[in-house]
Amino acid sequence: MEPILDVKSITMDFGGLRALDRLDLDVQKGEIVALIGPNGAGKTTFFNCITGLYSPTRGDILITPPGKKTERINGLKPNHVTERGLARTFQNIRLFQNMTVLENVMIGRHCRTRTGVAGAMLRLKSAREEEQTIVDHSRAILERIGLSQFVNDLSKNLPYGAQRRLEIARAMATDPFLLLLDEPAAGMNAQETRELDNLIKKICDEDGISILLIEHDMKLVMSLSDRIFVMDYGRKIAQGTPEEIKNDPEVIKAYLGEDPDA
Ligand SMILES: Nc1ncnc2c1ncn2[C@@H]1O[C@H](COP(=O)(O)OP(=O)(O)O)[C@@H](O)[C@H]1O
Ligand SMILES: [Mg+2]
Repeated sequence: MEPILDVKSITMDFGGLRALDRLDLDVQKGEIVALIGPNGAGKTTFFNCITGLYSPTRGDILITPPGKKTERINGLKPNHVTERGLARTFQNIRLFQNMTVLENVMIGRHCRTRTGVAGAMLRLKSAREEEQTIVDHSRAILERIGLSQFVNDLSKNLPYGAQRRLEIARAMATDPFLLLLDEPAAGMNAQETRELDNLIKKICDEDGISILLIEHDMKLVMSLSDRIFVMDYGRKIAQGTPEEIKNDPEVIKAYLGEDPDA
């Protein structure tokens, strides 16, 4: 079977700095895959290349959305990547702080509508009808993500863990087949992290969305992942099941031996 994401020998140079060095990574349908590595390893750069924020210097990024043909997406703009079914969250929270929780999710949804954001702002009749559908759909997502109690609150007033979950809800609103999460548990307490663990499993198992996540919390990574890719200095140094990764001497040297709070 074709992987839904197949990244082949991707290199990303920033001037003289090689942030990614011939990296290969694939995600199969239904998988939860983790990308780990020390700070500065190139993990976020990798996400930025896949989601169109950066255009990689070399290599191929191939996607095969369910029921569709394989497509090379190098150089596509971020909104076009989203339209093809890849959604992401960011390492630092990027919500519209002065908009409500519902509005933040609705914005994610507009990429799937005919009239789009411009039509919605002009309040065309067709847009008004579509608006109700978007509201209903967005509310349903908030319900699934466990944020119903906050729908009309301003995002900035949400507890930290709920803000991070709202970012996931907004990404879900674009109907992705693959969800990329950049350090979703960063700054969460133990309780919030446990809830996140359950949420990510549910999104994968029940909604059929595959997950690629960057994460430092090794307990979460080991609990969630079908497979783990390990990077250091822009290169892949190991890949395998959680069991294989735990016992890999290269990984222990580069990463697991490191102070996890560093
Ligand atoms: N836009 C950029 N311009 C120049 N250097 C960058 C840029 N983005 C990232 N880098 C560099 O690439 C390397 C990898 O960074 P990053 O991908 O953020 O690592 P990670 O997410 O694994 O902590 C770092 O040395 C960082 O300084
Ligand atoms: Mg990062």
